[in-house]
Amino acid sequence: MASLQEQINIYEQEINAFIPTADADLENYRIKFLGTKGIVKALSAEMKSVPPESRKEAGQLLNAFKQLAEGKYESFKEQFQAGANKAQAIDISLPGTPLPIGTRHPLRIIENKIVSIFEKIGFNVATGPEIEDDWHNFTSLNMPQHHPARDMQDTFYVSQNPDWVLRTHTSSVQARILETQPLPVRVICPGRVYRNETISARAHCFFHQCEGLYVDKNVSFADLKQTLYYFVTEMFGADTKVRFRPSYFPFTEPSAEMDISCTVCGGSGCNLCKYTGWVEILGCGMVHPNMLRNFNIDPEVYTGFAFGMGVERITQVKFQVNDLRLYSQNDVRFLRQFQAL
Ligand code: PHE
Repeated sequence: MASLQEQINIYEQEINAFIPTADADLENYRIKFLGTKGIVKALSAEMKSVPPESRKEAGQLLNAFKQLAEGKYESFKEQFQAGANKAQAIDISLPGTPLPIGTRHPLRIIENKIVSIFEKIGFNVATGPEIEDDWHNFTSLNMPQHHPARDMQDTFYVSQNPDWVLRTHTSSVQARILETQPLPVRVICPGRVYRNETISARAHCFFHQCEGLYVDKNVSFADLKQTLYYFVTEMFGADTKVRFRPSYFPFTEPSAEMDISCTVCGGSGCNLCKYTGWVEILGCGMVHPNMLRNFNIDPEVYTGFAFGMGVERITQVKFQVNDLRLYSQNDVRFLRQFQAL
């Protein structure tokens, strides 16, 4: 029988030459050298027959051999594990982490709808700044300093500059359009506006409007009415009744407010229409000659109409939302309830 030393020499050569290419090779190696019936165990068993005076030396030999066999196994096992982890990190077959899909804000749904209705009849979208100067928000709109109509709107002033305000209406965009665009113009102007109101279910310090402006030769009040009839039919349905009431705005003459028959109760009376059967949805009128003159447009040659509606108001009518605060609280349980129109 070969001595312990000789046997170990042979096995050591085998171990040093061993390079596993698959998990199974490594497992076979483990069973062969380190398993319960493996070579390390078998050699240890032979220790019994080693004469006592050589035992110490034999034990050291065996120990070194055991460490070699185990070390080899552990290092390959680690390599295989690292390889497996790496493969896992780039496993392109794994499904991605799902991102929840949001919904459109109800005000945006309504704004988009308003804009698309007017785009169909040739209106272009125009926008302007939310921090506005006195000229575009008031003076050019036929509201000079100290004009009593300025009190109709509770204005936020910007402390850095006494000439600046947070625009109180989108009519400021009308002014900017007349100032810069060649005639004729036909624009729809959605945007956020600000008023110094105490926040409640029915009032907010900011809200949204959509302004319309059409200036050309021979534009009449009949054009204004037809345009708005078309809007009401598209937005609320052909059965909706419309009425105009005389009103006052400094930048239009004549001016009117437009009501529609209540879409909730059909006119019989409910909370939305305050039991009147009618819901006010916008202000409108023929562009005031003074305003045209402010932009060097001759009112004898050109006429125009303008209208402005509250997006929250239309949304309230369409979706029966009864508290303005819901629009800015960002509660997804509220926001998820609305489908695009
Ligand atoms: N700017 C007016 C408002 O905020 C609405 C309006 C716009 C009225 C255009 C007439 C013409 O109340």
